[in-house]
Parts: sequence; C-alpha cells; structure tokens
Amino acid sequence: MAAASPEEAEPTLGPGLLPRHIAIIMDGNGRWAEQRGLHRWEGHARGARAVREIVTTARENGIQALTLYAFSVQNWGRPSEEVERLMTLLLDYLVEERDTIMDNEIRLVGIGQTQRLPAHVLKQLRFLEEESKANDKMTLTLALSYGSREEIVEACQKLARDVAAGALAPEGIDERLLDRYMYTRELPPLDLLIRTSGELRLSNFLLWQAAYAEIVVTDVLWPDFDKAEFFSCIDEFRRRERRFGKTGAQVTEELL
Ligand code: IPE
Ligand code: IPE
Ligand code: MG
Repeated sequence: MAAASPEEAEPTLGPGLLPRHIAIIMDGNGRWAEQRGLHRWEGHARGARAVREIVTTARENGIQALTLYAFSVQNWGRPSEEVERLMTLLLDYLVEERDTIMDNEIRLVGIGQTQRLPAHVLKQLRFLEEESKANDKMTLTLALSYGSREEIVEACQKLARDVAAGALAPEGIDERLLDRYMYTRELPPLDLLIRTSGELRLSNFLLWQAAYAEIVVTDVLWPDFDKAEFFSCIDEFRRRERRFGKTGAQVTEELL
C-alpha cells in the first residue's frame, strides 16, 4: 500500500459536542528552549507559532471563544530582558496577525491589567480590538498582564462603588451579577481549560470562571502543541461526564 499523503495525515476532529469556550494556559516555552540549549525567549518565539496554528484551528472548527493566557501579572517579576522579549513578540503578533484576524472575522480582546503594557504595545492592542470589534465568528481573548485574584478584586471595587452610589443594593448581588463584573462578561461559560507542560495548577488563571470547567493537562510543552494535540484535548473533554453536582444517574436521565 502507498504511504499516506500529507493530506491524509492531516488531523481532523470528528463530530460531537464542541466546547463553547476553551481557555489555554500556554506553559513550557522556557523548558522547551532549555532542553535544546537555547535561550528561553527562543521558546517564546516558537510558542508564538503554536498560537497562530491553534487560533486558526479553533476558528475553522467552530469554537465560539478561545482565551489564551499569554502573560500573567506575576510574570512582570521575570528578568527584564525576558519581559522585553515577550512584549516584542506580543507586538509582532498583533501587527502580523491583523490580516488573519480580520479575514477570519475573529474578534480580538485583551483582558487583564493591560494599562501596564508598554504604550506602543497597548496602542496596537487597542487598534486591533477596535478594528475587529464587529467580527462575530470567534472571540479570541488574550489574557495579558492578567491575574484572576486581581480581576476579582477589581470586580469587588466596582461593585462596592455601585452600591455606594446607590445604583445597587447589597441584596441584589448574586452569582449572575458578579459574573457581569468580570473581564469575561461577554464570553460563554468556560467549558474546557487546557494546560500544557504537565503542571497541575491554575497559576491565577480564571479562578471564578473555571468553577465547572473540565480541566485537561497535557505533558506537551507549548511550542510543540499542535492541531493533533488540540483535537486530542477536545476528545478528552468529550469523554468526560459533566455532573454539575448531580449524580451520574441523574445526568444520564436528563440526556434521555
Ligand atoms: C509560558 O512558558 C510563557 C509565559 C509564562 C509567558 P514559560 O516561560 O513559563 O515556560 P517554563 O514554564 O519556564 O518552561
Ligand atoms: C502561567 O505560567 C502564565 C502563563 C502561561 C502566561 P507560569 O509559568 O507563569 O506559571 P507558574 O509560575 O509555573 O505557576
Ligand atoms: Mg511556566
């Protein structure tokens, strides 16, 4: 038999329930580089290539929302040269991906303490957010200078201000309302949270939103994360039974 052609080898996602909102902790760039005797930032550069592949794959497969953890509030504490290289990669991404984002009708949004980003990076982010705001095929959210505890603190401050101004009664605060004070207010509920590089922690990412997300951890380092690996995470999600506090029997009955 002839060897499979590259087309035949292309990974595909079978039919089935799709997660509406997928978030990814893109971890392991530094280790990827260190294993090859390279500088950590070379791992970040390769990681940016993986971002491009996963964004288009998610869009082509009908994912409504993709949220990527690109830089945490705590990452500001890394050596300044690494931070500067990451900011340059972010700027390059925002400039170079503009056409892909617009051609694919993707809405790009930045969440986090984005005001801390260098002015020229922030300017490019705001430009692309504005330009892509009417796009509705997928929302790509970049978590930049993001921290979940910081997000919750900001939400509390806004709520407290609204209560103090008389716009809101403390009894009016419920889960749904608090959800609307989060950066993710316009996104569907988080269904699937992926972390690469095998670490079993959330690292201050989407703590509120992940309450009932399915968590899939892969040992693959982010620069090696590709379409096939992405599909295998979605397959793993499909094998899970989401019970939301109920019993397995109740869930089965609801499906009948
Ligand atoms: C993830 O890779 C990228 C960022 C946090 C910006 P790391 O840089 O954390 O890679 P490791 O975890 O050191 O391998
Ligand atoms: C989480 O990765 C942040 C991003 C992927 C942007 P880290 O590498 O910063 O997380 P820790 O330090 O291992 O918890
Ligand atoms: Mg890391």
